[in-house]
Formats: sequence, C-alpha cells, structure tokens
Amino acid sequence: MNNPVLTIDGPSGAGKGTVSRVIANQKGWHYLDSGSIYRSLAIAVLDQSVNLESKAEIVQLAKNMTLEFSGVEVLAVKLNGIDITARLATETTGSIASQIAVIPEVRAVLLQKQRDFRQAPGLVADGRDMGTVVFSEANYKVFLTASAEKRALRRYKQLIEKGFNANLGQITQEIESRDLRDSQRATAPLAQAEGALYVDSTDKTVEQVIAEILSFML
Ligand code: C5P
Repeated sequence: MNNPVLTIDGPSGAGKGTVSRVIANQKGWHYLDSGSIYRSLAIAVLDQSVNLESKAEIVQLAKNMTLEFSGVEVLAVKLNGIDITARLATETTGSIASQIAVIPEVRAVLLQKQRDFRQAPGLVADGRDMGTVVFSEANYKVFLTASAEKRALRRYKQLIEKGFNANLGQITQEIESRDLRDSQRATAPLAQAEGALYVDSTDKTVEQVIAEILSFML
C-alpha cells in the first residue's frame, strides 16, 4: 500500500476532473473520480425509488452495488451490470449524490471501494475528502477552488458540451446549495487538508494549474 497518491479536493466545477485526468495520464497513474461513486449510488437510489429519508435502505444499496469503471478520458460506469455513463453528469444526480453523501454509514461503506484504487504505479484521487479522510496519508495534497460564478459557468459549458439542456441561473443555485451541504456536513466535510497546496483556478488556465501542481510534486 505504498503506492504514491496525489489527492485533489475542492468544490464542484473547480476543474478537479480535468486536471486530475491530465496528471494521471502524464504520470501513467490510475485515476479515481470519487464523485462518480456517490453519483452511481444516487442513480441506484433513484431507480429503486428509495426515499432519501430511508437511511438503512440507502446503506444496503451501497453495500450491494457493484461498480465497473472503464476509460480515463471519458469515464464509463456500469452499475450492477448496466451502463449508467450518460446519467452521471446531470445536476439532479449530483444533488441526490450530495444528499446521500451526508450519511456517515454510506461514507463508511464506500471507503474501501475508494481505497482499492490505490494501485501501482500511483493514483490521482479527486473528490471532497480524499486528502482529509480516504487517503489521509497521501504523499501530495491539493485543494483546488475557484469563484462560484466561474465554477457555475464551467459546469454549464460541460453540460452543454455533453448535450444536456442547462440553465446558468439554476446551475449557480444548485452549485451553491451543494457546496453549502458538502462543506457543512458533520462527517468528512469539504475542507482543505493539512499540508495541502491551495490553488485558486479562477483566473488560471488548465495548463497553469497543472504546472503549479506538478512543480509542487517535485
Ligand atoms: O465531484 P462530484 O460533483 O461528482 O460529486 C458529487 C457529490 O458527491 C458531491 O457534491 C459530494 O456531496 C459527494 N462527494 C463526496 N465526497 C467525495 C466526492 C463526492 O461527498 N469524495
């Protein structure tokens, strides 16, 4: 379990996914998009029509779900054998994901599924609690953020590019309420890990952010 890990935590739309993929590619490391695990569980909850108050049922779904990941540039995910890739990115999925992510038992069940990604020659892990909880022993930690306006705009463009209908005002509201929930929950809230490099990507290009992280790792 001594394979090196780079953790990149931050709020939604900060650019974690893009930056993590490029760095993982350059280094030939594995990539964990931990949000996709919470999003997959959200889809299971929606499909089984489980009430968001029924914590025990959600924990059971988390225990029983099987996930298969493939691809790096475009992450493809199968949930219990069914391809759910096209449904992962929507704000509805993200919003349900953040509501179930507050349940401590859900987070505990998903812990090992995430740690299993730490394989040779290394791992780039992106999420909210990668450096604080899941890989608290990580070699390199980054906290990547940007202004709320910029993050909403990026999310909007991503959704349009993927062919979804999107409304910038609504996305801004959804991102703000998701950020608030993610930062204020009692278990594993979004926070800058001790020793993490703080990067504000508001006025930076993807290349500048990557260069900053790579030089921090030297
Ligand atoms: O990163 P992404 O937007 O895909 O994450 C969706 C939601 O999953 C987040 O808003 C957050 O509530 C939850 N999440 C989490 N811990 C992580 C990754 C995601 O709680 N490590």
